[in-house]
Amino acid sequence: MELRQAIGNRRSIRFLLPHKPVEREKIQCMLEAARIASHWGNMNSLRALVIERDQAPQDVLDALPSPVGGYQIRLAPVVIAWYIETEATDHAGERLRQLVDCGAVGYGDKKRDELENTLVPMFAQMGDVVKQPGLGEIDCGQGIAQATLMAFELGLGTCCLGTGNPEAVRQKLGLPDTCRLLVTQTVGYPAETPEAGGQRPRRPFEELFQLNGYDNPFPRDAAVVEQLERDGLIQQPAPLPWRETELLYLRRALDLTGQGLL
Ligand SMILES: Cc1cc2nc3c(=O)[nH]c(=O)nc-3n(C[C@H](O)[C@H](O)[C@H](O)COP(=O)(O)O)c2cc1C
Repeated sequence: MELRQAIGNRRSIRFLLPHKPVEREKIQCMLEAARIASHWGNMNSLRALVIERDQAPQDVLDALPSPVGGYQIRLAPVVIAWYIETEATDHAGERLRQLVDCGAVGYGDKKRDELENTLVPMFAQMGDVVKQPGLGEIDCGQGIAQATLMAFELGLGTCCLGTGNPEAVRQKLGLPDTCRLLVTQTVGYPAETPEAGGQRPRRPFEELFQLNGYDNPFPRDAAVVEQLERDGLIQQPAPLPWRETELLYLRRALDLTGQGLL
């Protein structure tokens, strides 16, 4: 499948087949995709704890947060707890040297000297500021996005879940206190149709992006939109006419009656 179609077809899938296990190889593919995502300074601060519902100890399962419409964790054969290891920035010098040595940045005989005299001291001076929420989280988001697209390509459905108290979940999962829990992501085979009700609404394009100045919305070219519709990146908006019937079906099939947000 083309990248454009993959981006267009991906949805957050909340309804998963609870009885169909996810192959560990597929989870590994997700992790491999996350690992090679771009990170500032090549810091690689994204980490993940993979939790298999049928294998993990009960205390680990109990640590998982119960999100809005708490059925999602219950249905998911696998949950990935994505977190950031803030200590990764302590190795900035080493990671930057690797970037120079592999030819990604710099050129000529002096490239290593320049690195030692400029970039490495600059990163060292920034100290703990770089451990605060900011660039690191952006890196991690890129990794999680790549894993999400990989999951989609492998026929899996995923949904990221936030939690009101990530620190409590971090502690219960036994993650070091240098880490911050970012998001948990349910993974499984979709119980929903691939359209999952249609493409979810977004704020208007012009409201989100500017060109050459804050007061100037980026002009949205209708011809480009038409091309992207043909390519499958922009799709029929939700809700498709039969979505409510599908939701009723899912609710019965997965025994979710009595759950609030359905
Ligand atoms: C970081 C993050 C946290 C999210 N947290 C939740 C959540 O707690 N519960 C939930 O049902 N969906 C959650 N979502 C999914 C969004 O609500 C979803 O993006 C939205 O429904 C749009 O649907 P789409 O992903 O299918 O385009 C989260 C998504 C992201 C990226």
